[in-house]
Amino acid sequence: MAHSLVLDACLLLALAPALVSCGEGEPSPEDVSVLIQEQRLRGEGLYREHCYSCHEVEGAIGVELSARVLASYDFAGPLYDYIDLAMPYNEPGSLAPTQYWDIMAYLLIDRELARLEAPLSARSGDRLRLADGGS
Ligand code: HEC
Repeated sequence: MAHSLVLDACLLLALAPALVSCGEGEPSPEDVSVLIQEQRLRGEGLYREHCYSCHEVEGAIGVELSARVLASYDFAGPLYDYIDLAMPYNEPGSLAPTQYWDIMAYLLIDRELARLEAPLSARSGDRLRLADGGS
């Protein structure tokens, strides 16, 4: 009886958007891909708020952040370090690390620079290779 109650609670939680994982072990691949998509969405919102005005508006001061430009950093780590250090140009370092990683996730997925296997963080991102055209 107690056992089946726990199972019911797990099923309910599994359906909840927060994706609380039940039991031990790693989250399922489906959960991971939802988490990645959520990070991408957060990143897109942050990008629109903090980056878009300089980088995607004609005549603005920032260069276009094309796949080629971003891939020239070779790995996600150095690109992160640059953005964290220098961007937004008018207010460098003003975002939280998790917000910079959210923006990175958006840029990498949108520009097809890497296939994410986990939400981006220093742990999963530092040595992630960037390739123009995806890989
Ligand atoms: C106020 C305008 C402005 C904003 C806002 C801004 N940038 Fe920039 N960005 C620039 C300028 C200007 C440069 C060129 C800087 C330089 O060469 O020293 C640049 C350069 C970059 C580069 C390097 C491009 C290259 O050629 O290697 C990246 C990556 C970048 N920005 C990402 C971002 C991200 C991500 C955000 C949002 C968090 C952002 N920028 C917000 C103006 C801006």
